[in-house]
Amino acid sequence: MVGPALKKFDSHKAIHDAGLGGAKERIEGMRELLAKEKYENLTEEITSFIEFVEGKIIVHADTEEEKGGLYTLAVKKNPDLHDKVQHLIRDHDLMKIIVDLMKKELENEEKDFQKLVDFSSSIIIVNEIHSRDEEEALLEK
Ligand SMILES: [Fe+2]
Ligand SMILES: [Fe+2]
Repeated sequence: MVGPALKKFDSHKAIHDAGLGGAKERIEGMRELLAKEKYENLTEEITSFIEFVEGKIIVHADTEEEKGGLYTLAVKKNPDLHDKVQHLIRDHDLMKIIVDLMKKELENEEKDFQKLVDFSSSIIIVNEIHSRDEEEALLEK
């Protein structure tokens, strides 16, 4: 079921902003550690970034997609939104795919830390575009 927080523009946007803000805060520290070549600390930061993205951003995305969730409800109310919702789901998929790529990279003996930080930035970029798009298309102001 969709809680009222997800249907309303302001409260839903606040959830987006908390997710994006937290991810952006973490990437600054990661960039510094990369520049200083502090790879042990960086590995910890990247792991914590992944946990944050999964715990906040992906959990939020799954809630939107679940049966009776925001997306189903929006299309039920306005069938013209079908394609838009499919695009939004693809954005969620992209973020999940990048998280999986990061986890795979972390398993390597020789980790490519530049790539890991680039993946993190990509998640932030996709997330920001996605959130603004979703707010514009689906939320009641
Ligand atoms: Fe979403
Ligand atoms: Fe959302």
